[in-house]
Amino acid sequence: MSVAKKEYKKVTVKSLVDMKKNGEKISMLTAYDYTMAKILDGAGIDVLLVGDSASNVMAGHETTLPITLDQMIYHASSVIRAIDRCLVVVDLPFGSYQGNSRQALESAIRIMKESGAHAVKLEGGSEIEQSISRILTAGIPVMGHLGLTPQSIYKFGTYTVRAKEEEEAKKLKQDAKLLEELGCFALVLEKVPAKLAKEVAQELSIPVIGIGAGNGVDGQVLVTHDMIGMTHEFHPRFLRRYLDLYQEMTGAFESYISDVKSGDFPSKKEQY
Ligand code: KIV
Repeated sequence: MSVAKKEYKKVTVKSLVDMKKNGEKISMLTAYDYTMAKILDGAGIDVLLVGDSASNVMAGHETTLPITLDQMIYHASSVIRAIDRCLVVVDLPFGSYQGNSRQALESAIRIMKESGAHAVKLEGGSEIEQSISRILTAGIPVMGHLGLTPQSIYKFGTYTVRAKEEEEAKKLKQDAKLLEELGCFALVLEKVPAKLAKEVAQELSIPVIGIGAGNGVDGQVLVTHDMIGMTHEFHPRFLRRYLDLYQEMTGAFESYISDVKSGDFPSKKEQY
């Protein structure tokens, strides 16, 4: 069964804005490697995010902070080699853009040049205004990211819902407007109240893509390894699991181990 709309032969930043105008929701998931990206692109995903969540999912770090620019480029170039249709957005990792706008531009250029990606994503609002502007002047499309911004986890202290209080909600709305005015082509809103996210999506003409931000936004993003149940210790309310691969894979690995130990594998048919 395939319900993916594949009207866009190639998804571009302009396609996403058109999707919002036409009321078509945008589908986005993460990918960090060639094989997963190939399956996702073939299924009709609109956007693949080479997220710095690779730091947790692929490398086992507790936070997204340790991943480097070189490692993000490695993941992004593996994803780019797999895709035909979708738009590929790459996170600028912690420490590669907060220094100054020149550092931000150099990091974004490295990602575009060395991986072949189509756009970059940065976490933050007014604090990184100059960095976003400078990247945009080089013709590099920028996706914003507000709400829970995991690169600032040590400032927040927890991964709980953001912008529940009026003051923080007001700042988030101002930042969202600023990102649109600067020229960002889309915005990720992570773990904020659904009502606030809906208001932001209605006020902006650029698409707002939510994760834990309710159904009133223009698209959804999840971490692929979470939604297919490969990671099994993470149960936030916003996560819908479509598979339980942790169980399935454990079963397959146990069968293989048992077949090897018993001498059942390989059989006569499986040898030369
Ligand atoms: O790194 C990531 O996977 C992300 C998504 C959670 C939006 O930024």
